[in-house]
Amino acid sequence: HIVTFGCQMNENDSEKIAGMLKEMGYEESDRLEESHIIVYNTCCVREHPESKVFGHIGALKSIKDKRRDVVICICGCMVQQEEIVKKIVEKHRHVDIILGTQNLHRFPEMLYSVLINRNVAVAVKDCGTSIVEGIPIKRKDKIRVWVTIMHGCNNFCSYCIVPYVRGRERSRRMEDIMDEIRALAGQGYKEVTLLGQNVNSYGKDLDGKPRFAELLYKVNEIKGLERIRFTTSHPKDLSIELIHAMRDCEKVCEHLHLPLQSGSSKVLKDMNRKYTKEQYLDLVSAVKENIPGVAITTDIIVGFPGETDEDFLDTLDVVKKVEFDMAYTFIYSKRKGTRAAERTDLVPGDIVKERFDSLVRIQNDISKQKNDSLLNRTLEILVEGLSRTSDKTYTGRTRTNKVVNFPGNENMVGSLVNVKIKKTLTWSLEGEVVQ
Ligand code: SAH
Ligand code: SF4
Ligand code: F3S
Repeated sequence: HIVTFGCQMNENDSEKIAGMLKEMGYEESDRLEESHIIVYNTCCVREHPESKVFGHIGALKSIKDKRRDVVICICGCMVQQEEIVKKIVEKHRHVDIILGTQNLHRFPEMLYSVLINRNVAVAVKDCGTSIVEGIPIKRKDKIRVWVTIMHGCNNFCSYCIVPYVRGRERSRRMEDIMDEIRALAGQGYKEVTLLGQNVNSYGKDLDGKPRFAELLYKVNEIKGLERIRFTTSHPKDLSIELIHAMRDCEKVCEHLHLPLQSGSSKVLKDMNRKYTKEQYLDLVSAVKENIPGVAITTDIIVGFPGETDEDFLDTLDVVKKVEFDMAYTFIYSKRKGTRAAERTDLVPGDIVKERFDSLVRIQNDISKQKNDSLLNRTLEILVEGLSRTSDKTYTGRTRTNKVVNFPGNENMVGSLVNVKIKKTLTWSLEGEVVQ
């Protein structure tokens, strides 16, 4: 039984854990109470998911008390932090395996050791520059697939824990990535999302220094594949070459996730983001100019230490100028060990809340207006399957990554259909299939 928190990278890691367990003869179960092996793949990017995991770990004790043979494994980003490992080992003695993000491939060995010796197995060391290829993967989806192209992050944005828990940037060799995607296309997968904390710096650590744009052109040639997406792009490294690759590769979707974090050049400098408000706006103009109809989504942090009303107004200004299709908005969360954690000029909670609410309100209006502009348009949808709410409504996404629900049938799943948009909501669209 595997529970995953955090980003797509973690989802992809969970698929690898599931793959290894499948090779070992285990079957995945959605019933926690009856499972022999329970895995929590954790995230620590903000405080909230971290405390949630500790809640779950505590609750697992009663399961272990009832069934002594159950194996409990805590893995992922959270346990790459020394003090967390210490806390689990000391206070949560029912946990059997603690496995860091850079030691995933050791899972079978550790499971074996726990089953034989009934000891606690811990593997959280930093693997330096190495990448382990060939871990089996049991994919969750049959149509869309994630492929990690690089691990780690070198950017050290001052608020962010990821570079500390995921290690330095390591790119997979282009041949390995191509082989994996070719095989997936052969199995019938239609859409691939290339994953990395900063895909724009892909290849900088490889011989010959292949660039991310080159990889896109190559993946674009793979037969059978219909759509290519990627995430995430750091604005400081978004090159005109990449914008042109998005324009030229017909399979690369018209969607760019470009995290803004703040619209204030002063806050951006404090965040160590290495671009200004003006540079961000210029980039967006270049993207819009080159890729007609492109959807741009973003991440924004509210209440970074020292953020003034004026700084926040700059964020709102960018939000209004860019007109993001969607924004993931976060309240600043102090992460121990990061540079921003040393700051004492915290923004009072009530002010943060006020700013956060007004940002969400303004962005929701923009998202709705953006969707309204699609009314009566006919859009290409990759059909993913039944919607969660009804057994007659099917769901899929536009190339711009908007969710569309429509009456359909099972034969449509995995294919591209044209849907005329009949109704627009803030988060999704509704329509009817047309010939
Ligand atoms: N590498 C990606 C995203 C990593 S984490 C990128 O650079 O875009 C996803 C998002 O979580 C970040 O974009 C940021 O908006 C948010 N985030 C990261 N650390 C945070 C913190 N300490 N407090 C609040 N939000 C944070
Ligand atoms: Fe964190 Fe910045 Fe790296 Fe993204 S680019 S993972 S926000 S340090
Ligand atoms: Fe969380 Fe780790 Fe992803 S901290 S956001 S799961 S890289």
